[in-house]
Amino acid sequence: MSDATLQAVRGMNDILPDEAELWLWFEEVARDWLHSYGYRNIRMPLVEPTALFKRAIGEVTDIVEKEMYSFEDSLNGDELTLRPEGTASCVRAVLQHNLLYNAPQRLYYSGQMFRHERPQKGRYRQFHQFGVEALGFAGPDIDAEQILMCARLWQKLGLRDVSLQLNTLGDSAARHSHRAKLIAYFGKHQESLDADATRRLHSNPLRILDSKNPAMQDLIAAAPKLMDELGDDALRHFDEVQAILKRHDVPYRINPRLVRGLDYYNRTVFEWETTQLGAQGAICAGGRYDGLVELIGGKPAPATGFAMGVERLLALLHENGMALPRQEVDVYVVHQGELAGRLAGKVAELMRDNNLRVLLHCGGGSFKSQMKRADASGARAAVIIGDDEAQANEVSVKPMQGGEQKRVSVENLTATVNQFIK
Ligand code: HAM
Repeated sequence: MSDATLQAVRGMNDILPDEAELWLWFEEVARDWLHSYGYRNIRMPLVEPTALFKRAIGEVTDIVEKEMYSFEDSLNGDELTLRPEGTASCVRAVLQHNLLYNAPQRLYYSGQMFRHERPQKGRYRQFHQFGVEALGFAGPDIDAEQILMCARLWQKLGLRDVSLQLNTLGDSAARHSHRAKLIAYFGKHQESLDADATRRLHSNPLRILDSKNPAMQDLIAAAPKLMDELGDDALRHFDEVQAILKRHDVPYRINPRLVRGLDYYNRTVFEWETTQLGAQGAICAGGRYDGLVELIGGKPAPATGFAMGVERLLALLHENGMALPRQEVDVYVVHQGELAGRLAGKVAELMRDNNLRVLLHCGGGSFKSQMKRADASGARAAVIIGDDEAQANEVSVKPMQGGEQKRVSVENLTATVNQFIK
C-alpha cells in the first residue's frame, strides 16, 4: 500500500466551508422558490436497481452505455447503480407508494448524481441537481409554468445571461415515422457517418442529430425534420406552450436539434444555457415524459419536469461577482480560570437561548491569544470572564469594532450584547 495522502475520487469534489455557505444560501433560495409554486420535497435513495435506469433512460444512450457507476452487491448479487439522474427514481418512488392516482403531484428533490464522464470545468462525476417533477398533468399549462418558474429563479438569482432553447419531440407516431425517415436518410449517406453515428443508425438515429462532430453538421442540417411529422395534438400543445411564454415575456429560441440525452422525453423539451461557462453551458434542462410512468410499470400518466445543475449555477453566480458575507458570529466568549470557565459555559448557553450565535473559546491560552481568536472569528462582541468577574457573577462585554468595554451582571448580559451588536 502506498503511504501517499489519500485523495478524493477524480471528478468528485469536496465543498469547503467558505463555498458551502454559498450552497446553503442557494438551497434556501431554491426551496423557497419551489414552495412558492406548491412543490413538495421527496427524497429517494442514491442507489437503485440498474434495470430502472436502463429502462427509463434508454439502453442506447451515453448515460447507460458509458457513464453509469454500476456494480454487483457482493452480498446478494443484486445489480445496482449510483443514480445518474433523479427522474427515474422519483417516478419509481411515486409508483411504489401509490402517490399518483388520487391527485396529481408536484415534487422536487435535490442531491448528488453520478456519471462517469470526463471531468472538466462544470462537468463532474459526482454533481448535484435540484430536480422538479409534475406528475399527472397533461396540458401545456404545466410545461409553460415550469419554464416560467425557471425564469423567475434566474431573476431572483440576478442571472441575466441565460437563454432558453425549446423544441418538441412530438408523440410516438410522429417519432416512429421520423425515425424511419432518419434511418433511410442517414442510411443513404453511410460513408459520411462517424463510428458513433453508424452504431446508432438503427438503434437510436435521433441521437445522431445531437452529434457535435463538425464533419457531420451539413448532413445533419439537411436531415428530415420531426416538425414536419407532428400530429395536430402535439402541434397545438407546442403552440400553447409558446403562447403562454409570449404572454409572460419569456424569450426563447426554437432549436429543432434539441433532442436531449435521455430517451424518455416526448413533446416539449427545453434547455437553459449560458455563454459564460464555456462548453458546459447547460444549467437546467428537462421536458415532458408522458410514457415513463407506464414504462416503469404504472398505469399511464402524463408527466413533465426538469433539473438544474447546482455546480454550474453556482459557478455562474461566481462569474457574476456574487460573494456572500461570511457566516456571522455574534459573540466570542473568552475566559481564564476554573470558575470563569464554568460561568463561560453557562452564559454561552444562556445567550444561545436568546438566539445569539456564540463561539465559546475552547483549548485554554492567555487572554491575549484568546482575543486574537475573537478578532479572527468576525464576532461583533467579546464576552470576557476572569475569576474575579466570575466570583461576582458578572462578565465584561467588549464591542469588537471599538468602544467602551462594559462590566454587567449575568442577568443583563443578553440585553447589553444586543445593544452592542446592533
Ligand atoms: P440532464 O440534462 O441530464 O437531465 O441534467 C440536467 C442538468 O444537470 C444539466 O443541464 C446540467 O446542468 C447538470 N449536469 C448534468 N450532468 C452533469 C455533470 N456531469 N456535471 C455537472 N452538472 C451536470 C436530467 O438529468 C433529467 N433528469 C432532467 C429532468 C427532470 N427531465 C425531466 N425531469
